[in-house]
Amino acid sequence: MKVGGLIRVPGDKSITHRLLMLAAMARGVSYVGGALTSLDARSTASCLRRLGADISPLRPGSVTRIAGRGRLSRPRARLHCGNAGTTARLLLGLLAAHRFEAQLTGDRSLRRRPMARVTLPLGRMGARFAPIDAATLPLSVRGGALSPLRWDLPVSSAQIKGSLLFAGMAGGVPVSLLEPGGLSRDHSERLLRSFGFAVETRGGRIEFEPAGRVVPFEVQVPGDPSSAAFLAGLALLAEGGELALPGVGVNPTRTGFLTVLRRMGGAVEIHELEDRFGEPVGTIEARPAPLRSTEVAAAEIPGLVDEVPLLAVLAARAEGITIFREVGELRVKESDRLSLIASNLRAVGADAEVVGSDLHVRGGDVPPRGRVRTDGDHRIAMAFAVLGTVRGANITIDDKACADVSFPGFFDTLRQVRRGQG
Ligand code: S3P
Repeated sequence: MKVGGLIRVPGDKSITHRLLMLAAMARGVSYVGGALTSLDARSTASCLRRLGADISPLRPGSVTRIAGRGRLSRPRARLHCGNAGTTARLLLGLLAAHRFEAQLTGDRSLRRRPMARVTLPLGRMGARFAPIDAATLPLSVRGGALSPLRWDLPVSSAQIKGSLLFAGMAGGVPVSLLEPGGLSRDHSERLLRSFGFAVETRGGRIEFEPAGRVVPFEVQVPGDPSSAAFLAGLALLAEGGELALPGVGVNPTRTGFLTVLRRMGGAVEIHELEDRFGEPVGTIEARPAPLRSTEVAAAEIPGLVDEVPLLAVLAARAEGITIFREVGELRVKESDRLSLIASNLRAVGADAEVVGSDLHVRGGDVPPRGRVRTDGDHRIAMAFAVLGTVRGANITIDDKACADVSFPGFFDTLRQVRRGQG
């Protein structure tokens, strides 16, 4: 297979969620260009509409208009967060500072994901939850006046960090957080800084002072590096050609996968850097290259947490055994991603196993063939679709539609790239 073209990947999911929420908290009208229009982004928009923000329909290629009221208002119905952990956890942070009760729920996958990691510290700040231990959705939250928070995160997580920083912002109280491992994505910190809030990061500690103010804004969302990763992976496995992915966010807390790919011998480069509201944006270029195994250290995981499925399928085509250290967090993603990566690699004839919280993948060159079970997990579907492009492969994926959670039109893009028509 050869690849070719210049592909614009959809807008960044993490940044889109955050911008929609910040715009809803501003008094006045904000405009967000290039917002992600996927199912997850729609979940955030529909919850915010129920909380009083006026948000135009999320349509690809159009600018989203958000009229915020400076605060959220009591919802008349339950807030349905769909498949989106970021929607649920970040909204809980904002709601903690609002004096009304709101009920949150989600789809089957989201209802099994851990929420105590945010409800516990938000409870310390003063929010009240029902049930009282609120460990999973559905749950209800009643916010109010908040106290300052000093908190050590149990795991490095941008969703926990974002939730607590948003609570500090909405409640007007200082927040001091410590991330235990590597630094997770820092979009919340950068965005809050761009509104004049004092956010300092030193050695894993994040200090937030409620010194700024969210005012209406106009921004253009960069492309999502996590979506770009699938196309870069596709180019690495190809037999010729080159792919260029312009306008992608290349925030260093998101590009850990590029570091690992380079270590594996991958021909991937970043060009043409520009700065957009504190976020670096560039063009990622990728070409075919023979891959070798590597060891991905625990401290690297937060910076590539969403790219493990893709890196694992690439490791299945690399020479040697690749080890991903301490990837237990993958068990509580949209699926039990850790087990699914290993079982699906085995299902298509590759060699992979979970050892404690580590993932081991032995590379080979036998054409992958078999049926992939996604459990509705978008990143499992896309990673194995990439593996399915190698010569002689025959992979069927039980649910392709789930890619719409983060990358609408992924399978069309894949076909387009393979014909070199990007
Ligand atoms: C996200 C943080 C990560 C990531 C998710 C998006 C965010 O989750 O996996 O896709 O936007 O904050 P965790 O914070 O649970 O690691």
